[in-house]
Formats: sequence, structure tokens, C-alpha cells
Amino acid sequence: MGKRAIITIDGPAGAGKSTVGRRLAQSLDYLYLDSGSLYRAVAWQSLRRGLDLDDPGVMGEFLPSFKPEIKADGAGFHLFIDGREVREEIRTPEVSRGASMVAKLPMVRRWVKEHLRWLARNGGVVADGRDQGTAVFPEAGFKFYLDAALRTRALRRLQDWRQNNDPPSLEEVMRDVEARDRQDETRDEAPLKVPPGAVVVDTTDLNVEQVVERCLAEIRSLG
Ligand code: DC
Repeated sequence: MGKRAIITIDGPAGAGKSTVGRRLAQSLDYLYLDSGSLYRAVAWQSLRRGLDLDDPGVMGEFLPSFKPEIKADGAGFHLFIDGREVREEIRTPEVSRGASMVAKLPMVRRWVKEHLRWLARNGGVVADGRDQGTAVFPEAGFKFYLDAALRTRALRRLQDWRQNNDPPSLEEVMRDVEARDRQDETRDEAPLKVPPGAVVVDTTDLNVEQVVERCLAEIRSLG
């Protein structure tokens, strides 16, 4: 495989992108880029400031001044806002919905894309998201699209709430995941779709090791 390639992993929520992406980045000694957290960070900071996430004028004023510090390595993607790392606070259902809203705005997509392309300027990245192989890195050397049955994806998302005292029901999570799928697939700007040339992996009946092994085998055979 050519050194310092760009690898993209696209797919809907709960398909396994972040777990697989991190593992791939670690095994290749690459950086892991989590594009979703950048959308989440924009939504979180806007919500904190009481901004209207749907208003392009308001967001256009806010965005140029928003400069989170980004630290990426094989093990993770860390964002610091006002000097403090943001973690669970950008993973709440409210911020998830907000991220899906701001992700519809072309200016926000451009802002995220510029940050990702700068981080990938020397190659050697695994970029996880919903438009990485289509809009952000169309030139990527390796493209994967992970998918899984809705119920399986919702069950995986439910795992994220296992520490919580008041977890949502499976039905609620399924409805939420389905609504976000629809929003991500039908938006005008960079909708979620299988990138041309991507290898599609259905992860419904595979564990993480099996998916990572499948991706590494593809990379070895194509590279
Ligand atoms: O992967 P995630 O759940 O952290 O992403 C949060 C939201 O950000 C998701 O609803 C859609 C949006 N998103 C996007 O539009 N494009 C990406 N490349 C990544 C995320």
C-alpha cells in the first residue's frame, strides 16, 4: 500500500464507522478524523450561545470566530473549546439533532471540509463520516461504506446510553436513527450515499474484528 494514503469510511449512524475507523487508524499508524464531532461541536457551541441553528445569517456570523483546537491521532479525535475538552456533552440527543440541522448548511459543510483537508494535508488519515468519499476526499485511495440493519444500528446506539439512569427505549432510538438517516440522505448538500468506487460492508452480523480485517484485506489487495 502506498504510504500515507487517505482512507474514507462513510455510512449511516450505528454502522460501526468510528470503532472501525479508530482501529484501522491504529493498526496503520494513521490519524483518525471524526467529521461528525466537528458538526457536533458547531451545534453544541451554537446551542450554548442560544443561536438559531436554522438561520444561515446567524450561523454565518458565528462560524468564522469558532476555532476549536483539534488533536488527532490513531486512538482518537479530541476537540477543545474555550480550553476544555468536549466529550459526552457533544453526544446528547439534543446535540445529535442540532448536528444534523447545521450539517444542512453549505457554510458549515465548507468549514468542516476545510478543517479536515488541512488535517489530511500529509495523507495518512482514516476519515469517518457521511460524505468523506464523495465530497471531502473524492481522491481517497481507499473508500469504504459501512451499513447495517436499522435495528442493529439502534441497538449499538443504545449501548452509548448504558451508563445513563434513564436510557431511551429501543423504539425511540430506532425512530431517532431513522429520522437522522432520512435527514442525512435527503439533504441537498452532500447527501449520504455510497461513494463511487467504495467497498460496501454490511456489518449487521460481523463483529468489529471481522470488519477491520475485511477492510485491511481490501487495503492490502488494492494497495
Ligand atoms: O457521526 P455522528 O453521529 O457523530 O454525526 C453527527 C451528525 O453530523 C449527523 O447527524 C450528520 C452530520 N454529519 C454529516 O452530515 N457529515 C459528516 N461527514 C459527518 C456527520
